[in-house]
Amino acid sequence: MNATLITGASDGIGKAIAREFASLKHNLVLVARNEERLAALCEELRSKYRIQVQYIVADLTKPEAPGALFEECLQRTISVDVLINNAGKGSSGEFFKNDLEAELEIIRLNNSSLVALTHLFLPEMIRNKKGFIVNVASMIAFFPSPYMAVYAGSKHFVKAFTYSLTEECRPYGVNVLLFSPGLTTSNFMNTKANNNDWGKVLVQGSNTQTPEQVAKELVTAYKRNKTFHVSGSRNRVFAILAAHLSPGFVARSFAKQKRKQIGWKQFM
Ligand SMILES: NC(=O)c1ccc[n+]([C@@H]2O[C@H](COP(=O)([O-])OP(=O)(O)OC[C@H]3O[C@@H](n4cnc5c(N)ncnc54)[C@H](OP(=O)(O)O)[C@@H]3O)[C@@H](O)[C@H]2O)c1
Repeated sequence: MNATLITGASDGIGKAIAREFASLKHNLVLVARNEERLAALCEELRSKYRIQVQYIVADLTKPEAPGALFEECLQRTISVDVLINNAGKGSSGEFFKNDLEAELEIIRLNNSSLVALTHLFLPEMIRNKKGFIVNVASMIAFFPSPYMAVYAGSKHFVKAFTYSLTEECRPYGVNVLLFSPGLTTSNFMNTKANNNDWGKVLVQGSNTQTPEQVAKELVTAYKRNKTFHVSGSRNRVFAILAAHLSPGFVARSFAKQKRKQIGWKQFM
């Protein structure tokens, strides 16, 4: 069976992407840690769209997880022709105060697992001269973001990796899309690492989209065979402008503004 595999499909943007691809009648493989939520979504999509939907439980921060996921797909004779690397997490706060293990987990999830899954599933797409990979980055990939330092770094990696991979894959007929949402009303900012004073200040004044709006833009970019898309028209303008400014200047101005907003002296 050919299928679209979506990581981080149990919630937020990934769940909305799953619903959109189900409506296009793609068979799906949904991946995340929460089995209950994955099973419920499988049931919903199977009965609504009469497609094949399976789930695989995986904690993608574990180094062995991408390989095990790939093997499980082989066992189930699933051929992944669309891979959507969406699972991701972040943290807010002063880097030196953040828990180191949690910071390293961001890199394992946002970068190591994305690279591993791409490396595992890409060869078959190349053999078939057909395939589509979506790497979900963020607006934050276009400028430095003090007080989200590791998350920003992880998404800059996704951007540089994807731009490069897009061109390596182009001659083989495999499309690679860098897809960058802005602030989205999911549980992303409600995690232990993000739900703090810094997290609240960092998102103040940001343009917000719903996961459904973001997923619709992703599907439109997919249908148009795009290799680059920033979700949300205001986000697009902002990302393009920010990318043309000096990163040092952007970082300094942003940090100053956010320290002022939070009343930083109290934290010294
Ligand atoms: N929300 C935003 O404002 C925003 C903005 C820009 C970019 N993004 C990016 O968009 C993507 C999706 O974010 P979201 O807003 O949908 O976040 P979310 O609502 O927190 O959902 C994250 C998804 O990833 C899964 N996940 C988390 N840790 C995992 C792990 N260790 N192994 C496997 N799956 C894991 C979660 O499921 P389980 O808990 O069941 O594992 C969930 O399905 C991320 O890459 C994020 O960086 C989000």
